[in-house]
Amino acid sequence: MKKNLSGLWVVSIFLLSACQTREAGFISYLPGNLQQEGSVFIAYCNSCHAAPHPARHTLNEWMVVLMHMENRMRERSYALPDHKSKQAIIDYLARYARK
Ligand code: HEC
Repeated sequence: MKKNLSGLWVVSIFLLSACQTREAGFISYLPGNLQQEGSVFIAYCNSCHAAPHPARHTLNEWMVVLMHMENRMRERSYALPDHKSKQAIIDYLARYARK
């Protein structure tokens, strides 16, 4: 019994620290400077789910994913990125996309 409970503690401390990392905007698996080139990407793409790694898709594939995500944002009445923000997201994805 005691053993099981201490295991739970380890799990909850792990989960808590994971949340804090995410809130602080430091997402260690993402490439580039996340306070600059990656900041708009994180603001929009790390809210409904963890931000995906840019190398998951080619730029062409990302353009399709972005269209789908805009629909997800509309469905949930999330603020859509304006033209400038959208360009910043595309620039970030393009830089680190699968070639
Ligand atoms: C409003 C909520 C929401 C936001 C904001 C959002 N997503 Fe998603 N995303 C979803 C949902 C829901 C799914 C599950 C699959 C689906 O419904 O399309 C998903 C799935 C994904 C997937 C996996 C499926 C695939 O097509 O490869 C990727 C990659 C993705 N999102 C990227 C992004 C990016 C990049 C952004 C920022 C522009 C973003 N998401 C912002 C809701 C969101």
